[in-house]
Amino acid sequence: MKAPAKSSGSSSPAVSTPAASAASDPGRKPGERGRLDLFSLLAEHEHEQVSAYYDPSTGYRGIIAIHSTVLGPALGGTRFWSYPSDEAALRDCLRLARGMTYKAAVAGLNLGGGKSVIIGDNRTPRREALFRAHGRHVESLKGRYITAEDVGTSTSDMEYIKAETNHVTGLIGRSGDPSPVTAYGVYRGLKACARYRDGSESLAGKSIALQGCGSVGYHLAKLVFAEGADITCTDIDPQRVKRVVEECGATAVEPDAIYDVQANIFAPCALGAVINDDTVQRLQVEIVAGAANNQLAEDRHGDLLERRGITYAPDYVINGGGLINVNAELHGWAPERARSKAGEIYDTLLRVFEIAREEGIPSYQAADRLAEQRIAAIATVRRNFV
Ligand SMILES: NC(=O)c1ccc[n+]([C@@H]2O[C@H](COP(=O)([O-])OP(=O)(O)OC[C@H]3O[C@@H](n4cnc5c(N)ncnc54)[C@H](O)[C@@H]3O)[C@@H](O)[C@H]2O)c1
Repeated sequence: MKAPAKSSGSSSPAVSTPAASAASDPGRKPGERGRLDLFSLLAEHEHEQVSAYYDPSTGYRGIIAIHSTVLGPALGGTRFWSYPSDEAALRDCLRLARGMTYKAAVAGLNLGGGKSVIIGDNRTPRREALFRAHGRHVESLKGRYITAEDVGTSTSDMEYIKAETNHVTGLIGRSGDPSPVTAYGVYRGLKACARYRDGSESLAGKSIALQGCGSVGYHLAKLVFAEGADITCTDIDPQRVKRVVEECGATAVEPDAIYDVQANIFAPCALGAVINDDTVQRLQVEIVAGAANNQLAEDRHGDLLERRGITYAPDYVINGGGLINVNAELHGWAPERARSKAGEIYDTLLRVFEIAREEGIPSYQAADRLAEQRIAAIATVRRNFV
């Protein structure tokens, strides 16, 4: 993707991280083994900016990566994690920020992609000063980056951030649990897949193998059951399985057996990397479509699905309802508007499949193509009347 170049820089007060000092060593070759070349890394993934901030008084060590602001402010959650090295933290932050650009673009939102990481043990009880330091860091970017919850953070942490900046969302008592909106988007995605395969979007009589009966999986089960689908489900939590069995007439199987279930649709709603060397051969379905993030262990597993004639709904397209819900909070949308926007995932997926067919590429690549087309088109329009 060729996002317009913007100046790369770091906020003040910024520290000279190992990354930054490596980048400033003129004797160093780009990509030299064991050393980090910060600016090559930014160029490789076409990020606009990365900011690092260390606050000795709280022990806060945070990185904010802004991948693209072409469509709007870069939105992405704060991940609080004990990384093995600063480089691992930076790479994760850059990778996740880029993913957010693509997710927002295909969801049709006026948001760019960003992400932040706080390096440390996320079980720490000393949270206020830490998250307020993060809030100061976010504020220093003057709205180019908006943060939200992610792994290791909670809505109460967002409240601490809010004390220092308005560029935060996912606050207590606001948009609330995104799962019903996400599940509705996934449900509409399932229907688009059925339409693409069979010419009919109806899920009545279709068999669905549901992996994960948590927040999204449960709401999805209710929706497909109401339409007359047969559900086979699994979860590592027996209580969650029981609820779907009792309320949706589902048949339960052991967690590992879900990959061998003969069904029309496999709906992963639990973990990432579930389409891997082992499972891709075992699946006996026509469609893989579910809420889980990063379903493909590696891109090549998307190619393998394609080769097996299995229609794959790219994860970041079909699970965009969560981001749509966050966007709804930012802009004060009524719940019906968020739901209706999530419903558009139906048309977006059909467009993805069309691009895949026209260009002879797998659907996961077609999704990237669609995102890149939208970003490029809007960037062009925005150059007018400057
Ligand atoms: N909640 C959202 O709005 C949203 C939005 C976008 C993406 N997602 C993704 O969708 C997935 C589900 O999200 P959620 O909010 O329902 O999470 P959740 O934690 O409520 O549910 C996940 C369920 O998966 C189960 N599980 C874990 N390991 C399992 C295994 N090996 N086999 C079977 N079940 C297993 C858990 O016990 C749990 O019930 C996650 O990957 C999440 O990142 C969620």
